[in-house]
Amino acid sequence: IDELLAEGVSGKRVFVRADLNVPLDGTTITDDGRIRAVLPTVKALAGAGARVVVASHLGRPKGAPDPAFSLAPAAARLGELLGAEVPFATDTVGESARATVAGLGDGGVAVLENLRFNPGETSKDDAERGAFADELASLADVYVGDGFGAVHRGHASVDDLPARLPHAAGYLIAAEVSVLKKLTEDVKRPYVVVLGGAKVSDKLAVIDSLLAKADRLLIGGGMAYTFLKAQGHEVGISLLQEDQVPVVKEYMERAERNGVELVLPVDVLASTEFPDLRTKAPAEYTTVDADRIPADKEGLDIGPKTRELYASKIADAATVFWNGPLGVFEHPDYAGGTRAIAQALVDSKAFTVVGGGDSAAAVRTLGFDEDAFGHISTGGGASLEYLEGKTLPGLAALED
Ligand code: 3PG
Repeated sequence: IDELLAEGVSGKRVFVRADLNVPLDGTTITDDGRIRAVLPTVKALAGAGARVVVASHLGRPKGAPDPAFSLAPAAARLGELLGAEVPFATDTVGESARATVAGLGDGGVAVLENLRFNPGETSKDDAERGAFADELASLADVYVGDGFGAVHRGHASVDDLPARLPHAAGYLIAAEVSVLKKLTEDVKRPYVVVLGGAKVSDKLAVIDSLLAKADRLLIGGGMAYTFLKAQGHEVGISLLQEDQVPVVKEYMERAERNGVELVLPVDVLASTEFPDLRTKAPAEYTTVDADRIPADKEGLDIGPKTRELYASKIADAATVFWNGPLGVFEHPDYAGGTRAIAQALVDSKAFTVVGGGDSAAAVRTLGFDEDAFGHISTGGGASLEYLEGKTLPGLAALED
């Protein structure tokens, strides 16, 4: 982007593909981290006199307008953060988008409606995606990719559009890539990875590659129960992906062969029922050893002994990467495990990276100071796929 700015962007229409996929409670944004993350790029472009057209997806609408997934709240928040009026187009490439872009003055910023309201954005058909990219290209003179959270998607605005316009990477993408490089090239050891989240199937590829790179893997969240099962324990009614048990067993054997310390919970908070996340009514649970989860109970957070154990495994690390909550952190009674891990990262002298929409949001909603971490990535799937060593379409398209 610096080269682009040096060439001059005054009066040019610059399409900024951002990731404004923020968590919403109705129309209230519960964590605006992803909006704040794109500010440096938007401000630099607007400050240089560009006409900035910000576009993003939000959630997973079905290729048609759906008010529940409108980007209007994100556009309003961007306007507040910029302290400027930010016009909002109520479509992506239609009349409203064209009129809104045409109405922008030098230094103005506008936001388009959710890109995924158009079926061409996510289409598997090259021609359909290409046709949508052509329409988007007609709205701009230059493309800046800065939606790091979506660079792993081969979508029209991420993959096809940059080929149609002069393009550059924005400051967020540049910052994210330079941090993730530190985890893949010459990582400082001990390198400790904490993985949580609901489903082990979402993390298989990254675990596979970490078994050759990390020194220690600490497992928590819903996915831990598939590991406990693979160890031969009964897990009651806990989240379990039975079909993944053989895969996980093979990972555990490989960890041992490679000298990677794979650490599983030793105790969990277990309950007969999933907590009410809406009312947040107090939950009834007991703390049980991880190898003695009663048949009628499910584990919903890591227990106190595990929190201490994991904190001790993080304490001497030189690098820590953390992705995924350790329990149902949206409920206050089951947020303790996630909070303990965040605190352990804050207390350690390691270079710490938090990746993933949920863990990043957890860190902020639990009241931690973002500056206490080395880096909080805006990418969930994107940062995991980067660590896996995959080619990410949205990065490859910018390198061309
Ligand atoms: C994310 O939240 O990880 C990104 O915004 C990508 O969203 P997606 O998984 O719906 O493509």
